[in-house]
Order: sequence, then structure tokens, then C-alpha cells
Amino acid sequence: MKPEKIKEDYPIFRKRENLVYLDNAATSQKPRQVLERISEFYSENNANIGRGLYNLANDANISYREARAKTADFIGANPSETVFVRNTTEAENLLAHSLDIDGEIVLSKMAHHSEQLPWRRKAEKEDLKISYLETENGKISLEDARKKIDENTSLVAVSHISNVFGAENPVEKITEIAHENDALVVLDGAQSVPHMPVDVEELGVDFLCFSGHKMLGPTGIGVLYGRKELLEKMDPYQVGGGMIRKVTEKEIEYEQVPEKFEAGTPNVAGAVGLEAAIDYLENIGMNEIYSHSQEIAASIIEKLEKVEGVNVLSPEGANLVSFTTEFAHPHDVAEVLNQNGVAVRAGHHCAQPQMEELDINGTARVSPYIYNTRKDVEKLVEAVKEVRKVFQ
Ligand SMILES: Cc1ncc(COP(=O)(O)O)c(C=O)c1O
Repeated sequence: MKPEKIKEDYPIFRKRENLVYLDNAATSQKPRQVLERISEFYSENNANIGRGLYNLANDANISYREARAKTADFIGANPSETVFVRNTTEAENLLAHSLDIDGEIVLSKMAHHSEQLPWRRKAEKEDLKISYLETENGKISLEDARKKIDENTSLVAVSHISNVFGAENPVEKITEIAHENDALVVLDGAQSVPHMPVDVEELGVDFLCFSGHKMLGPTGIGVLYGRKELLEKMDPYQVGGGMIRKVTEKEIEYEQVPEKFEAGTPNVAGAVGLEAAIDYLENIGMNEIYSHSQEIAASIIEKLEKVEGVNVLSPEGANLVSFTTEFAHPHDVAEVLNQNGVAVRAGHHCAQPQMEELDINGTARVSPYIYNTRKDVEKLVEAVKEVRKVFQ
């Protein structure tokens, strides 16, 4: 991979020449190939879908259908199992609203709020018990999973890669344990699908949620994958136009999946933009992308650990780096880094229970992606040393 060359595809880095962007876990930047495809759709193909009978509407239908087929293929799924939503948060809410379960829910302590709160609300409303899997060295403890997932469990919701620690969780093993107990598995792929090959068949999960904006695509488009027979049994989350077969005064017949879950005019341009992002990622190669992020993160960990007073929380093999310092609050770290042209995230990362468990008020988080270079790492480390000078 040649990140220096890749960077040339991103208009934002030409406008902001000195920007070192290391907040990719929050959102990624967009290459011109994605921006141009969105613009091309609006300039040449724009119409509402599933409604018009003229050629232009037909072309828009084809664009949306192709975007769905590409997205499904990217995760080893069937288009009929691939629902377009706004983002990971909406996918989790849709599931928590529509999925019928009657046993216990198992979440993890490291869970992002959007993967935690929809299930907590469901548990509260439906009087279901929740338990939380412990974190061990930045990963979900498999030992704890073996203890807490049992015949009373009906659903296990975990993230593939934590947005706090950046390490891959033992999802296949957790899925095995869940399925041995007839429990469903919901995987939050917000931080994995952009960075590594993810195949729902290989993982064996029942549901997968992810967001387009973290993988070079536009904001406002995300995906809920679900096994077809499960999606078919679920009630729609929203109702309205575009998701019905027939409505009479007495009767409503819904469309088949996935349209059943896509009420109203969908984000067609967003889907087309996501398709372009997937083309772009596939062109580079998901294995190469994962290795690159891990190498950059490993180099950051190695260098930061040499700075006195820095405590790295991310384990070996992580693709992002969370750290605290003895000399400054994470917000102050991020502010001084900002003054040095380095953009990182600081705070609780929407994982307050995990912060509470660690007894910290937050971390500074450095999350690289395909356009981050060794030079970016040098700038970051120099800037962290600068923070130390300012606060000591
Ligand atoms: C692990 C994880 N899950 C869920 C989300 C929520 O994603 P979105 O805000 O796109 O819905 C994020 C966003 O940072 C995340 O990192």
C-alpha cells in the first residue's frame, strides 16, 4: 500500500495540506471517486425509485439495486438480506424494535452506546434480564462469555472491533457459544467492516450492522444484514410508502425483505456513494487495509510507550490506539494536538460504562486509515511530546 499516493485522491487533504487526520473511527474522509459518483448520480440518473415508470426512474432503480448487490457481496450476504438504513445506530434500533425475543440479553462492557442502549431500552420495556461480558486486555473475555451465555440467553450483541481499544473480539467463538445455546448474535461491524474482510457466512452471525461514513462512503447510509428467515419474521420498524404490496381499508400487505424495512424514499445517492466506496476499498484490498492500519497502530503504540507518563490501553494487534497520560486530561491532549495540526478524538467514545469500569474520565484515541503515513505518526508523536512539555 502507498498511503502517500492514496492521499492524493482526497480533496480535503489538498485544501488542508498540513492536516494529520487520525480520527477515522469517528468518520473517514472521502476520495474523489466517491464524491464524483454521487455527483454523477444526481447529474445523470436522479429520480425517485420504485415508483416512476419512465426510463430515468428505471435507471435510478438499477443504480440502487446495483448498490445493494455490491454491498451484499462485500459482506458475503444476499441482496435480500441487506437492508439500507441510516447508520449502525439505526440498524441496532431497528433490530431492538422489531426482533421478538423472550430470554436474557448479553451485551459487553465495552459496547458503544448505540449497540447498548437500544437493547437496554428493550430489556426495560419487556422486562428482560441483561448481563455484561467483561473486558480483558481490550477484548471481550471468552471465559466470561462461556460463563454468562447459557440456555436462558436469547440474544448476544457484541462489537467485532471495539472503538475504544481497536482489538478484534473473538466473534466466531462467541457465536459458537451463543448458537450452542440457541441464542441469536448481533454483530456491530462499525469498526470492522471498513478495515478488514468481513464475511457473515464465515462468521456465522445472525445480524451485522455498519455505517457507510466510516468506510469512505457518505453520511446517512448504513446497513443492516440479517439472515433472511429472521428478517422475514420481523415486523417493520417504520411503515409508509415504498414498503407495501397492497393497502386497503381493512388490510395491509408488506413488501418482501429487504424493502419491507425501507419505508419512504431511501438514500439512493448514499447507496450509490457506498457502492463507490466499496469499489475503492476492494481495489486496494481489505487484507492490505487491515495490515496497514495495524502496522501504523503498532508503530504509534511503540513510540507512545516510550513517552514518559503515557499509558496505552490498546492491546497488540489493535488497529487504533487509545491512551491516557499522567500529565493531561484527554481533552487537553486533543487540544494541544489540534494546535499542532493533528486531529484525534478525546473523551468517553460513547462507551461510558467501559470508562466507568476503567475508572477513567476518557482517553485520547488515534485511529488511522488507508491514507495515514509514517510521517503522520512522527507528527503525532512529536505533538504528544509537546503536550507533555506544556503540562509538566
Ligand atoms: C463500535 C461502534 N458502534 C456503533 C457506532 C455508531 O455509529 P453511527 O454513529 O454511524 O451510527 C460507532 C461509531 O463510532 C462505533 O464505533
